[in-house]
Amino acid sequence: MNTVEVQELVERRERLLGPGNPLFYDDPVHLVRGEGVWLHGDDGTRYLDCYNNVPCVGHCHPRVVEALCAQAGTLNTHTRYLHENILDYAEQLLDKFDDSLDRVALACTGSEANDLAMRIARVNTEGEGFICTNATYHGNTTAVGQLNSIFEPIGGYGKHIRMVSWPDSYRAKDGLDGVALANAYAAEVQQAIESLEHDGVKLAGMLVCPIFANEGLPDIPPAYMEKAVSLVREAGGIYIADEVQAGFGRTGNWWGYEQSGVVPDVVTLGKPMGGGHPISGVVARGELLDGYRRSEMYFNTFGGNPVSCAVAAAVIDVIDDEGLVENAERVGAYVLEGLRELQSRNELIGDVRGSGLFFGIDLVEDRETKKPAADAARRIVNDMRHNGILMSKIGEHDNVLKLRPPLCFSEENADQLISTLDDVMAAA
Ligand SMILES: Cc1ncc(COP(=O)(O)O)c(C=O)c1O
Repeated sequence: MNTVEVQELVERRERLLGPGNPLFYDDPVHLVRGEGVWLHGDDGTRYLDCYNNVPCVGHCHPRVVEALCAQAGTLNTHTRYLHENILDYAEQLLDKFDDSLDRVALACTGSEANDLAMRIARVNTEGEGFICTNATYHGNTTAVGQLNSIFEPIGGYGKHIRMVSWPDSYRAKDGLDGVALANAYAAEVQQAIESLEHDGVKLAGMLVCPIFANEGLPDIPPAYMEKAVSLVREAGGIYIADEVQAGFGRTGNWWGYEQSGVVPDVVTLGKPMGGGHPISGVVARGELLDGYRRSEMYFNTFGGNPVSCAVAAAVIDVIDDEGLVENAERVGAYVLEGLRELQSRNELIGDVRGSGLFFGIDLVEDRETKKPAADAARRIVNDMRHNGILMSKIGEHDNVLKLRPPLCFSEENADQLISTLDDVMAAA
């Protein structure tokens, strides 16, 4: 597609959908087809997808497509009739969790899942207060928007919200490290609890991504999660782990929370759950979901319909049958090694972080001062796009290159990624 046609699409989009609809890249990409780790532009360009976690088993996986078509051709209804698919899927999904997490409610988006998790916390604790981090995003409902530190909600933040620093080991609080650093960040959680109490707000819970993905994917200081979660529980709150990005094998474990070993009270799921089909969920300790269900009628027209459940079941089958969690761990370690080698030759790379197939490359103007290099990050993301690799950036300072490919990413794909990144950085 030539530039004029792209411009026409952008203008038409703006005219029909309104301004401000975010688009990736200075030169937006027009995609027409996907398969595995590959995305195809309408001008014939083939892109290596190093960004998309939603099609976690690969774009248009035949087994997922077949499951969708078969069920869509048989029956799809809203969720107030009996159907085995939701029960079969619930068993299959819950089997992947710690035994204490034995109930599930299904919805359609990550935002809905977090909204429902907040309701569950409110009802069970009779509290209103929530703790989140100061550089995150959890979704777009009015309640969840209160937890979004990167976009201020309309009308501002309520007095029931407290934000704590995310546990950054690279630009570490007060230059601390190790246990002292974990204690310093955990102390902020305690201060948040006390500040809510001071304002007469009872704590409902803490809602965080267990790997702090949107914050910039930090190396979490040792035992930080244990300390923070204990403080929340001692104060009567519950720990909600937002696994919308971290879940379904991304980190080389099924769930991001497994890294810290702290089992959440409630887990929220989304993005990769349906491999591209909109399905999300809340997995919780039985007494919490039951307590909520007894108090409020929650109904979601599409959440858990027979087609969504058939698709989501196929996603889990493929992850299991193709060994994608193990692949994430193995190929992820290979990518990390390549990125660290690149770092040893490139002053712009201040820090390389990640686990499984999820990486953050923290770009700095100066390795001593660690001044974030946001302009360089933007330039590299755009240059990579012009060199056939799709990726993005994240983080409090918008300077962390974000790599999060489908879980079927191979060592050969990794070689292409690293060598292209090497060339693009050398040319910058
Ligand atoms: C950590 C996290 N939670 C929740 C959401 C919201 O999910 P959705 O866009 O499906 O509503 C996002 C979206 O980017 C996210 O990154």
